[in-house]
Amino acid sequence: EKGGHDYFMLKEIEEQPGALENTLRGHFHDGGIILDEQRLTEQDLRDIDKVFVVACGTAYHSGLLAKYAIEHWCRIPVEVELASEFRYRDPVLGRDTLVVAISQSGETADTLEAVRHARTQRARVLAICNTNGAQIPRESDAVLYTHAGPEIGVAATKTFVSQIAANYLVGLALAQARGTKYADEVAREFSALAAMPEAVRQTLGTVDQMRALGQKLADSKAVLFLGRHVGYPIALEGALKLKELAYMHAEGFAAGELKHGPIALIEDGLPVVVVMPSAKGRALLHSKMLSNIREIQARGARTIVIAEEGDETVRPFADELVEIPAVPTLLQPLVSTVPLQVLAAEIARARGYDVDKPRNLAKSVTVE
Ligand code: F6R
Repeated sequence: EKGGHDYFMLKEIEEQPGALENTLRGHFHDGGIILDEQRLTEQDLRDIDKVFVVACGTAYHSGLLAKYAIEHWCRIPVEVELASEFRYRDPVLGRDTLVVAISQSGETADTLEAVRHARTQRARVLAICNTNGAQIPRESDAVLYTHAGPEIGVAATKTFVSQIAANYLVGLALAQARGTKYADEVAREFSALAAMPEAVRQTLGTVDQMRALGQKLADSKAVLFLGRHVGYPIALEGALKLKELAYMHAEGFAAGELKHGPIALIEDGLPVVVVMPSAKGRALLHSKMLSNIREIQARGARTIVIAEEGDETVRPFADELVEIPAVPTLLQPLVSTVPLQVLAAEIARARGYDVDKPRNLAKSVTVE
């Protein structure tokens, strides 16, 4: 049933290209993005002047990425908030606010309560969900189902990449409704997305390397993760996976924050995973990140660098270089997250833990 894999999570990691295909399939027709359930008018969508994204855990990390895409494509301000914090601070909501609720299960209590709060304030609610007919989509004005298939491993993997793709589809749908992108531009962005299942498939070529690395890092005290721009949420996600599966202290940072505190943590042999920005797409950030790696390496860190194939500039600073395909900047998280998932799972396995059923965690968190 695990398809010859040692644990479900590995099977689900390998299912990610197919999950992405399923998320994209059916959401682009006649040159435009379509949602699964749509109880909002075109005018409602045009009137949106503020977006809140609410979610928990891994879904929240996908939400952080929604901000980059929606602000870039739609020029509407986007705030991303943990669902468990959202309603307690009385956020400013109204008829022209869109609340995007992201939940794989569609039953997460905090996210559901955030949706209910948004509705009492007359905000519009759009749900991104992997479970047909779950409570969150039932209480929303519009729904985009991710269709990633059921996920057995408690740690979210394929539903995470599907959520990222779904967020981008929502961004394109909004851009289309508001006219901030022409139909041909929407079609171009969609075809870039449609090329991602193949890129993720190529990234699975890092699985053996990451499994071997996981075995080597199993005795580490802690692991740090650094990212910039869209690599930052992926650093957070890499750290969350390691905490929940390997019960190891792990933290993700925006690399620019290093000198404001976290660099004090660097000591001899500490593994630091760095998600390199695209060399061409984000040259300035790329060179800043190179200096960050130099700084931590000089202080003894063991650097594990996730970088685009052919990015030779990082080689001298990488104790372990993990090559991922070069893809457009906004889409890089879909490939850079894969090796980090495998790393966390394999460290957990090497430490003797049940990768599919980490302690103290439930697949669906229905209490606040
Ligand atoms: C981590 C993980 C959790 C969930 C979170 C939200 O691997 O799976 O952090 O992402 O509990 O769950 P959903 O998406 O069902 O609302």
